[in-house]
Amino acid sequence: MEALEQLRFLTPAEVGQIAARWGTPVFVYDEATLRERARQALAFQAPFGLTVRYAMKANPNAQVLALFDQLGLAIDASSGYEATRALEAGISPRRILVTAQQMPRDLVSLVERGVLFNASSLHQLETFGGNFPGTEIGVRINPGVGSGHSHKTNVGGPASSFGIWHESVEEIKAVAAQHQLTITRLHTHIGSGTDPLVWTKVARLSLDQVRSFPSVTTMSLGGGFKVARMSYEKTTDLQEISQVVADALRVFAQETGRKLHLEIEPGTYLTANAGSLITTIDDLVATGSDGYKFLKLDSGMTDILRPTLYAAQHPLIVVNDRPSTPERYVVVGHCCESADLLTPHPDDSEVVATRPLQKAEIGDLLVIEGVGAYCASMSARHYNSFPRTPELLRRADGAVEEVTEP
Ligand SMILES: Cc1ncc(COP(=O)(O)O)c(C=O)c1O
Repeated sequence: MEALEQLRFLTPAEVGQIAARWGTPVFVYDEATLRERARQALAFQAPFGLTVRYAMKANPNAQVLALFDQLGLAIDASSGYEATRALEAGISPRRILVTAQQMPRDLVSLVERGVLFNASSLHQLETFGGNFPGTEIGVRINPGVGSGHSHKTNVGGPASSFGIWHESVEEIKAVAAQHQLTITRLHTHIGSGTDPLVWTKVARLSLDQVRSFPSVTTMSLGGGFKVARMSYEKTTDLQEISQVVADALRVFAQETGRKLHLEIEPGTYLTANAGSLITTIDDLVATGSDGYKFLKLDSGMTDILRPTLYAAQHPLIVVNDRPSTPERYVVVGHCCESADLLTPHPDDSEVVATRPLQKAEIGDLLVIEGVGAYCASMSARHYNSFPRTPELLRRADGAVEEVTEP
């Protein structure tokens, strides 16, 4: 039987205290982990300067944004609304870059306030140029390949709508010339996992694109630094990856004389393992000798949608102090929806799989780990009309405060 997963930063006693005070379900974010991850990201080697932009879509809580801002991280916003949210959290406009699938409705006021913009399509470039001729802009290019862990997380290649297709260089130049735009930033987020060889390819592909644009001074590689949520998964070694990228930038500088500033945009890397979701086991049902034992939680896709969307695996820990041998369970959420499944088969989100867990009883607490990224921000929150789950921040000194936003 595979190993039982362990709590990440909370102690069993803290889990009980927080559940008693705030009820369940409840998210808890850990300031110490957020700080440590930010420190690691800021240590990314970049021979000619580095900006780490936090991909706020991972977790846009104002307290998380304020902490990262204080630590020196800038912001990657994925919509005009995210940019506005960052402004409301006190982030300076010049520290916010919008790279969005949907053109912000309030583009003009955002840019007039100082927010930066990356065009993700020719239409966006055209629209920006019409409103702000003679200014600087970035472009997001789809370099023709991608490497996300599934086709649902792949953000490059012919099956991806993200960015301007790499064969459209002349069209980009024509639109830029028409509006006297200077393209200063080139962005190529393709989702790239843990393999340094893949990153060598990503850096080469991105630099090949930069060659076509002599005015580009900043290359952005996007995010996609995979982290281990489950104990058997592997976390990207940022130092190793950055070595590969830094070498490529140095070689490029020797060849061309161009010393490019580097941007990275991690979301997952910074926040995933800084979040825990405390839930209660509300019910326990069994489906006979050929069936399964199901644990039903008081949470589910209303707080964590990743298992349903991507068959993502999250650590599940039953918190009780009864000594017992582990049992295998299927863990499900509280929605009237068979896809509300916390233990999907890793290869198919529609197939149930079992997990070894501490023997559980109705009323026990169960902690879902790895929920700091793309959980509170990406849930099916309104489904079945369940109320919003509170979010807490565990400060570096251990004090816990509520940081739920309206
Ligand atoms: C433009 C851009 N930057 C950054 C990220 C962050 O990726 P991750 O959270 O995997 O680091 C994404 C994710 O899709 C993205 O689209």
